[in-house]
Amino acid sequence: MILSDIDFTIDAGGTSVAVVGPSGSGKTTLLSILGGLLVPSSGSVYVREGDRQLAVARQVSWVLQTANLLPRRSARDNAAMAALARGEPLGDVLNRANLVLEQVGLSSVADKPARFLSGGEAQRLSVARAVTSRTPFILADEPTGQLDDRRSDQVADVLFGVTRTFNCGLVLVTHDHALARRCDRVLTLSNGRLR
Ligand SMILES: Nc1ncnc2c1ncn2[C@@H]1O[C@H](COP(=O)(O)OP(=O)(O)OP(=O)(O)O)[C@@H](O)[C@H]1O
Ligand SMILES: [Mg+2]
Repeated sequence: MILSDIDFTIDAGGTSVAVVGPSGSGKTTLLSILGGLLVPSSGSVYVREGDRQLAVARQVSWVLQTANLLPRRSARDNAAMAALARGEPLGDVLNRANLVLEQVGLSSVADKPARFLSGGEAQRLSVARAVTSRTPFILADEPTGQLDDRRSDQVADVLFGVTRTFNCGLVLVTHDHALARRCDRVLTLSNGRLR
């Protein structure tokens, strides 16, 4: 059993939750279950709006530990991709993508195919894609793991900024204690249990 006795609630409403814990403690597994990528062997995940229960997959954007970009498409297309897949108008999405690319310092590589980006650039692009989507929740797995301090602060500013501005819920897995402290709540995983 990787996780057990997990029970908590996250409000959209502009709040951020950090998930911390040693390597192998189950952070990515927890995030994958929250976002519906993994089905738990027992228990459930609900997204509720008032009395309505919503489909989890439509409500979350991902920043995964590996960037999962479309390698041949430009950085701009990658940033726009998730929002476009949700059926939003092209012009609106591209405007938003351009703004977000600027915020994460990627304007100069916006036309570059994603496969030519550095590891840190790819990571920032994956954050840009999630932020451009404007879903009610962002689930981010070590979104600053490959970044230097300055870039890390910049990416965190963008993530916390969008969370507050658009009243989303941010769940952020991180080994960076300074980043975890910026969150409203910190959940610590240890041997698959929350402390
Ligand atoms: N698909 C899987 N099948 C079997 N075991 C798995 C699977 N995925 C993860 N595990 C195991 O579950 C445990 C938790 O893995 P998880 O990836 O959630 O850890 P983590 O806290 O995210 O670690 P890290 O900080 O290294 O990313 C590990 O022992 C891992 O080997
Ligand atoms: Mg992990």
